[in-house]
Amino acid sequence: MNQNIVKRFDPLPPKSKLIIFGGGFSGQRIANLARCLGVKVLCSRRNKESEGADFIFNTEKELSNEILEGATHVLSCIPPLLNGEDPVLLKLRTQLLNSKNLKWVGYLSTTGVYGNTKGGWVNENTCPNPQQKRSIRRFLCEKQWIETKLPIQILRLPGIYGPGRSVFESLFNGTTKMIDKPGQVFSRIHVDDIAGSVLFLINLYSQGKNPLVVNVSDNLPTNNLEVITFAAKIAQTSLPSTIPFEIAKKEMSPMALSFWQENRKVDNKLLCEKLGYSLIYPDFKSGLKNCFSELKINK
Ligand SMILES: NC(=O)c1ccc[n+]([C@@H]2O[C@H](COP(=O)([O-])OP(=O)(O)OC[C@H]3O[C@@H](n4cnc5c(N)ncnc54)[C@H](OP(=O)(O)O)[C@@H]3O)[C@@H](O)[C@H]2O)c1
Repeated sequence: MNQNIVKRFDPLPPKSKLIIFGGGFSGQRIANLARCLGVKVLCSRRNKESEGADFIFNTEKELSNEILEGATHVLSCIPPLLNGEDPVLLKLRTQLLNSKNLKWVGYLSTTGVYGNTKGGWVNENTCPNPQQKRSIRRFLCEKQWIETKLPIQILRLPGIYGPGRSVFESLFNGTTKMIDKPGQVFSRIHVDDIAGSVLFLINLYSQGKNPLVVNVSDNLPTNNLEVITFAAKIAQTSLPSTIPFEIAKKEMSPMALSFWQENRKVDNKLLCEKLGYSLIYPDFKSGLKNCFSELKINK
């Protein structure tokens, strides 16, 4: 992790132990930042061959008590099961409730729980109105975590991007689609700002600043055409032609279509103004410049 980023964050108290369930794209980045700040971190994956698998967690296997022993912080980055149950609570509710040292429990959720606001802003006081099945399941999992009465904090995330998972990959492999749906915007967040927010919120939580739900989103909800056009410009690559949404939707997967059926702007004032988090990548332009520079480094 870039030391200029690490320097922005305060360390956690000595002997902090963070257990991350679901060390995928965000989980690995959060683990990385926390380790740079001196925290002992253990990250789960479903297969031991996967990168960064410190232990295996899946719904088929029992977890040894050792993993949670002495844990001070727990974060789940795992999506709900198809029946709406939370995999971590399903397997570990009792162990978590018996963990005496837990100071903070985080759950990565999605802003999909707000549903479709037809382009309107949503903040943490907006009443959730999930419409997609996966968002309904997500909202159920949020409730399951809240009902535990653990020191829980829910981070609602919009589209996650970062090095290795941004519009550059589709631009370079020729799968970019320039879908034109006037008025449609998407909110997004760079993965480093998820990591930064987690560490920032953990420290605030111990000072009694502990809102139950926090949106973690950048400052600039934007139309996808603007984002792709900007990426193509910095990569000096050509763009495919634009396709009207009404035509593009005929060939979309149900999952892709579901994203285009909702239109909302995610307000980050609680995180960035009231709590005082300073975004590393405040908008897609700064974030994409970072993704492109990491692409060049890794080439
Ligand atoms: N991607 C987005 O744009 C987006 C937007 C909003 C919210 N979210 C949510 O935010 C969280 C983090 O997102 P991400 O993109 O960083 O996630 P990701 O890369 O897909 O990683 C998800 C992690 O969860 C683990 N996992 C999935 N199902 C599991 C199960 N049933 N049992 C045990 N482990 C399981 C995966 O295990 P393996 O490592 O073994 O694969 C992986 O480590 C997720 O809950 C995601 O749904 C994502």
